[in-house]
Amino acid sequence: MTGTLARAEPAKDLLHFITCGSVDDGKSTLIGRLLHDSSLVFDDQLRALARDSQKHGTTGDEIDFALLVDGLEAEREQGITIDVAYRFFTTPRRSFIVADTPGHEQYTRNMATGASKASLAVILIDARKGVLVQTRRHSLICSMLGIRHIVLAINKIDLVDFARPVYEHIVQDYLAFAKELDFASIVPIPLSARYGDNVIGRSERTPWYSGLALLDYLEAVDAASEITELPFRFPVQWVNRPNLDFRGYSGTIASGRVRSGDPVVVAVSGYVTRVREIVTADGLREMAEAGDAVTLTLTDELDISRGDMLVSPTDRPEVNDQFAAEVIWMSDHPLVSGRSYLARIGTRTVPINFTALKYKIDVNSGKHLATSTLELNEIGVCNLAAAAPMAFDAYATNRATGCFIIIDRFSNETVGAGMITFGLRRGSNLHWQPLLVGREQRAVIKHQTPAVVWMTGLSGAGKSTIANNLEQRLSTAGYHTMLLDGDNVRHGLNRDLGFTEADRVENIRRVGEVAKLMTEAGLIVICSFISPYRAEREMVRELVPQGTFLEVFIDTPIEECARRDPKGLYSKAKAGKIKNFTGIDAPYEPPEHPELHLTTIGREPDQLAQLIVDMLAARKILH
Ligand code: ADX
Repeated sequence: MTGTLARAEPAKDLLHFITCGSVDDGKSTLIGRLLHDSSLVFDDQLRALARDSQKHGTTGDEIDFALLVDGLEAEREQGITIDVAYRFFTTPRRSFIVADTPGHEQYTRNMATGASKASLAVILIDARKGVLVQTRRHSLICSMLGIRHIVLAINKIDLVDFARPVYEHIVQDYLAFAKELDFASIVPIPLSARYGDNVIGRSERTPWYSGLALLDYLEAVDAASEITELPFRFPVQWVNRPNLDFRGYSGTIASGRVRSGDPVVVAVSGYVTRVREIVTADGLREMAEAGDAVTLTLTDELDISRGDMLVSPTDRPEVNDQFAAEVIWMSDHPLVSGRSYLARIGTRTVPINFTALKYKIDVNSGKHLATSTLELNEIGVCNLAAAAPMAFDAYATNRATGCFIIIDRFSNETVGAGMITFGLRRGSNLHWQPLLVGREQRAVIKHQTPAVVWMTGLSGAGKSTIANNLEQRLSTAGYHTMLLDGDNVRHGLNRDLGFTEADRVENIRRVGEVAKLMTEAGLIVICSFISPYRAEREMVRELVPQGTFLEVFIDTPIEECARRDPKGLYSKAKAGKIKNFTGIDAPYEPPEHPELHLTTIGREPDQLAQLIVDMLAARKILH
């Protein structure tokens, strides 16, 4: 079929589905048969795809079928490697996108990606083996991801002599287990992918089966998502302002419909306005719906930017900075719950923190297990706090606006995906108490600009010595200072913390908060901590006003630190007597853009401290 012909056809509806099972269950054979026996991939689609693949793809010159699915824009930009193959095929009655996810150990991440748009899952069962642990796991994940329709493909029915009792036993088994899960339909089909029985047409070898063959069912099932029937949600992707006379908001409608003249609300700010025009690549339109890429112009000039969401005024999303969610961890690096990550929900990106990790779910049994972290492919139920209010819906009511991805702030890697269960009102009984005397006034009395001088570097690099020297100089010159030192703080405030990644993150978080309070008291705070992670140093930087966090990298090569070994810790660490020792078996991430980079070899502490004083003077911290 040629491209022109394909375009001239009336649009057929599209069914996204996912297949779950392992190679042993005959999954590849089944997909191969569906594609081979029914497939017509349109030429123009293939050409467009080939073009796109070269632009964005990760598959070299081959066509990257993942690009057929637009919902994964974010992951694509982040270049995350997810093992999901999207295949497109079409029959005279319907078009299909099937996400084929491998059944091996990396299952959860792949399934979550494959299922993000699917409305139906084909779960394969080997008729000889029946319902297995992996069947339960796949079903649980499908249900969590909001897939409502299940086809139970009981495969290799030829290998059990097309025996009806075997089939019925498996069906009973599955239904008993799946009644806990929230599926709208479960349709069992006995089939043989290998020989084609009940795949494309009804098989004569299962006369006792009165249902449809798989493809007939997939063509007929009413599983098309009702996303256009949900309330209107339009995450603004960018402000389109080609000249002074035109200001439009561009993006893709996430759910519902909009007509020109409709009232809309900017979700977070609550401004009410009206849609003036709906502009598309093909001109003006009266109406647009979920999935359409449009530019909306409004009747009022409002302050709207990327990340805002235009919504229906009568059916608004929740606006909150605290919520509960199910989170699927997708990174090799486990979740550090004290760390600040970014969440991208729709087109909005906000810093988030995990405020509670309630439990993780054993995907094989459904059991809840206590935990303090999530590892690759684990699913946890958590509370999160965002740095600013965000607009969202519960995932159960709107899959488009109820899910988010979690991004590592430094590697920019997508490390997790979340589904919001509900908003939390916990914080709402706490308010800021206004203070009559402020940071400014306290500082003025001291004739100084409060600041945080943050010294980072390996143990034994010389941080404490230089910090002491610096404080002495400042103090002598009449400045009001305070010195916070790792070893000292760990005797009191942080005596409950050790040296795991999570504990060090918490160590720096608390020290950051204390340093911030001290700057509010008007002090120049000198902090001397290994602080091995960039993420937490940046977190402290963001706590205080711009320009008042000065990062000083005390750069001493590890060989030199180990040679000095002032506390004998390096020799203990090398002998394996101390675990997680920075530079030996725990990482140190050097600053990328410190305000001051001090190499210590060949320089005296006096000289180094003076260089810090000079830097503080140059930056107008010292007057
Ligand atoms: S941080 O990594 O959390 O910033 P911090 O600066 O508070 O560390 O404490 C570091 C000090 O703790 C070191 O100077 C050393 O004296 C001591 N220490 C004990 N165990 C370790 C360890 N495993 N790694 C690093 N420092 C350790």
